[in-house]
Amino acid sequence: MVIINFAIDPAYQGQGWGELLLRETLAIMHDIGVVYFYLDVRASNIQANSLYQKYGFSEIGIRKQYYSQPDEDAIVMRKVFQ
Ligand SMILES: CC(C)(COP(=O)(O)OP(=O)(O)OC[C@H]1O[C@@H](n2cnc3c(N)ncnc32)[C@H](O)[C@@H]1OP(=O)(O)O)[C@@H](O)C(=O)NCCC(=O)NCCS
Repeated sequence: MVIINFAIDPAYQGQGWGELLLRETLAIMHDIGVVYFYLDVRASNIQANSLYQKYGFSEIGIRKQYYSQPDEDAIVMRKVFQ
């Protein structure tokens, strides 16, 4: 399974919707037997990094200059389902 984008409309950010969406996504993945969940996130994206860490993702690597406009490293994170 591949998820291309994970985002909440800016007008509704900071109100718990991102957390709800991630929780539901993780529940579906767990139900279908996913063991590893990998994602990339911009190094400067404090909100997303914080959300992913809160839900058990840990940093496992860096993709140098992965993003453009602006150029930026990606942090690679992984969650292991128990
Ligand atoms: C990242 C994103 C999905 C979070 O969704 P959201 O609805 O704004 O977040 P929530 O209100 O559900 O907050 C859940 C958690 O996210 C993190 N978070 C949200 N806003 C934050 C902020 N301004 N600063 C730091 N952490 C923040 C926190 O861990 C928060 O948990 P807490 O309330 O216990 O601190 C949303 O900000 C977004 O769509 N951003 C733009 C697109 C994007 O960056 N997508 C991710 C690409 S990898």
